[in-house]
Amino acid sequence: MATIPESVIEEVRRRAEIVEVVSHYLPLKKSGANYRALCPFHQEKSPSFNVNPAKQIFHCFGCGEGGNSITFVMKKEGVTFPEAVRILADRYGVDIPKEKRGGEGELDDVYRALESAAEFYHQRLLNEKPGAAVNQYLQKRGVDHAMVNKLRLGVAPDEWDSLTRSLIKQGFSTQILEKAGLARKSARNEFIDRFRARLIFPICSPGGRPLGFAGRTLGEDAAQGPKYLNSPETPVYQKSKILYGFHLAREAARREGFLFVVEGYMDALALYKAGVENCVACAGTALTPGHAELIKRVCDKVTALFDSDKAGVTAAKRSGPILLEHDLRVRVLALEGYKDPDEFLANRSAEDFLNLAAKAPTFHEYMINTAISDVDITDTESKFAVIREIIPHIRKIKDEIERAHYAQLLAERTGTDVKAVLKTAAKPAQEHGEAKPAGPKTGASASRQKPLAAHRAERVLLAALISNPSYLDTIAADLAPEEFSDPDLRKIFEAALDAKNRGAHTSADIIHYVEDEEVRRAITSLASDRGVIDEEEAENSARDCMGRMRRRGVDRRQELEKVKEAEKTGDTESAQKAQKKYFDIRKNGLS
Ligand code: UTP
Ligand code: MN
Repeated sequence: MATIPESVIEEVRRRAEIVEVVSHYLPLKKSGANYRALCPFHQEKSPSFNVNPAKQIFHCFGCGEGGNSITFVMKKEGVTFPEAVRILADRYGVDIPKEKRGGEGELDDVYRALESAAEFYHQRLLNEKPGAAVNQYLQKRGVDHAMVNKLRLGVAPDEWDSLTRSLIKQGFSTQILEKAGLARKSARNEFIDRFRARLIFPICSPGGRPLGFAGRTLGEDAAQGPKYLNSPETPVYQKSKILYGFHLAREAARREGFLFVVEGYMDALALYKAGVENCVACAGTALTPGHAELIKRVCDKVTALFDSDKAGVTAAKRSGPILLEHDLRVRVLALEGYKDPDEFLANRSAEDFLNLAAKAPTFHEYMINTAISDVDITDTESKFAVIREIIPHIRKIKDEIERAHYAQLLAERTGTDVKAVLKTAAKPAQEHGEAKPAGPKTGASASRQKPLAAHRAERVLLAALISNPSYLDTIAADLAPEEFSDPDLRKIFEAALDAKNRGAHTSADIIHYVEDEEVRRAITSLASDRGVIDEEEAENSARDCMGRMRRRGVDRRQELEKVKEAEKTGDTESAQKAQKKYFDIRKNGLS
């Protein structure tokens, strides 16, 4: 996608007034100077979603979500930053100049060619005679007209170059068709269609634009080539970042709070047909971190459905940890007795499916279950093998209570001493003779568990600075990040400083420059919390807080000096006393 000029982004931000932007999606109720609504990002009965027109930000006191107009659209539509800018530009009449020279203008053509191709395939299918091969196939698979329309299914005709010819007639160059993965050069050096005589599934961006295609043979005849042919990797189609059906599943995933991830296009289709809309398929690849990030945009729970064959089990084992590393909650649903979800739903009801899904084991339960069911657990060596397989997974669990829970489960199921399991799981991987070290607890996840409420004066000051970034140049001009004793607040201050240096004048501007989602939420939280600062008194209270922080700093340094002095003279009693005081000041911050 062509990069959007900075001036256009500025204009969009200026025109996209937050109350108007949010009102487009949900009814807002005036409440004092602000507006309220039921939060669109989590389930609630009384409104804790707050829109502040003066600061041009929103914040939900219930789920902590927050941001400016663009962030709101990103979240609500499940799109990227440039996509959100485009949506808003469109809505508020800001022109995005088309760059025609060089690679970027070309990308627009690639997108347009893909769109035209999707329409071509779809129209061909809609115009097929009832008895045509593709219609016979769809009928056999129970794919009805509603599904054809919903998924915009199509058919690639059994001809060499009908798509290529049609698109060239529309003005596309062969170079663009090749770049879009739609045509390729034949042995005779002629351009021919990539997909021929196949049922076509368009694979779309989160916004619903076709990026590539999957084509299925119209039967099980191996002579027709591979069962599925997928678009090659192109500048716009990268399978490690795309999930089939994401644009259809987004809303439902947000509503339900979780997403089903299946292996096959046909499985996704079967779920949609059964009315289960929160479902995506990984398009012919294993799950990747890119997929996890995509999922995180709309929900934080995944139920992975892998085929019941050996490959499916391997896929589950490989995918689970990737999802978990992205702080997604993961369950694994095995549909025993059925090859895949499609086969299950052809024989059983949607209700049966949802009932099983509700009881799906967590990833760790699944891992323990499968490891044990694979072996004779009464055999000592097998038992050790199971433990060795599972321990690395338990070790990676960040939450201590969860870790203890699964250690306990593993111990019980294998008849091992739980203390030994826990102890081994607590050790770094190398000591246990395992190849890979466990991922360290990240700063972000460590701070997530702690509320950002430790230090009152620092908080008040920061709230004032974020609400009035000009204070960063006046009152707090010489304030250093180190002067914040709360590391979370320090991080926010640093982000605000950085944003100011990049030209931020308002709270909404600061958010514009902040990349870390957690910091962004903390900022909107501070700026929206009227309990923190009195707007009229902001400047005075900021000055007061600065003063108190500075005094604390001096006090703290004095105690530290005393410690050093006392240690030098060997006066351990005074040293201990001063040290205690130093830590007290540190811990309690400013009251
Ligand atoms: P499956 O073989 O399970 O296919 O492959 P399916 O989607 O269930 O389709 P039906 O029911 O046989 O018609 C699962 C997924 O693996 C990828 C596709 O994404 C497919 O949906 N795949 C499979 C390929 O990319 N190429 C292939 O040749 C086969
Ligand atoms: Mn299948």
